Amino acid sequence: MHVVTHATASRAASAAAALVLQRLSQHPSLVLGLPTGETPVPMYRALVRAYRAGRADFSRATTFNLDELFGMGKGDEGSYRSYMEAHLFDHVNISSRRAHVPDGRSADWRHEVARYDRQIERAGGLDMIVLGLGRNGHIGFNEPAAQLQAHTHRVALQPGTRRANARLFGGRWRAVPAHGLSMGMGAILGARRVILLVTGAAKARMVERALAGPITTHVPASLLQAHPDVIVILDRAAASLVAKRRL
Ligand code: GLP
Repeated sequence: MHVVTHATASRAASAAAALVLQRLSQHPSLVLGLPTGETPVPMYRALVRAYRAGRADFSRATTFNLDELFGMGKGDEGSYRSYMEAHLFDHVNISSRRAHVPDGRSADWRHEVARYDRQIERAGGLDMIVLGLGRNGHIGFNEPAAQLQAHTHRVALQPGTRRANARLFGGRWRAVPAHGLSMGMGAILGARRVILLVTGAAKARMVERALAGPITTHVPASLLQAHPDVIVILDRAAASLVAKRRL
């Protein structure tokens, strides 16, 4: 794992955006996995700025979001689809046919999760994926558990994860759906390059466990230690407990 620390959260997010932009310019038909959450908001801002300045062209790119809240989709305030439209899709020249988010409103979620995996496979897998880190160590909605899933799946969200998503629902965590649809560990670990972006002191302990602790399904992000090309981008606050360790 290659760990890079920046002084502030916004610099860390800009660094993640720079890696995406660099890969996109080398490879315009990039297949990119994308996260939601608070952390990547400034990264998306940087991507939109680059597009507006003529430094990015998404016309041939394909994106696959990591997850969606169950029962939610296009047009639903609070859905990850709406988040992506607000922060990226509506502001850059990505084709709507190639901007994929699992459809949490699908009448048949079993069909939807299988369809999502097929689409990723048909796109040739992910060239690059940007991940955030849940406070409990989740990536996407792959929650800590005795077993993790390889494929896109429906998952019960832990109360802490629902609380972390409460901002999308006016602060009411009980309004957050109790389930999500998530890309599985197979597509994530199959990505040719992984960028893990984590900021803020509240994540410092989990960053330490994910990067320097044992590889365990109880800290899903720890599985990234086994991936050959991971760049971890931290701000100083998130890096405080790993700063002096040799990883
Ligand atoms: C959410 C998302 C994750 C995201 C994580 C961290 O539950 N499902 O994909 O990485 O939580 O979010 P934040 O950046 O707001 O801490």
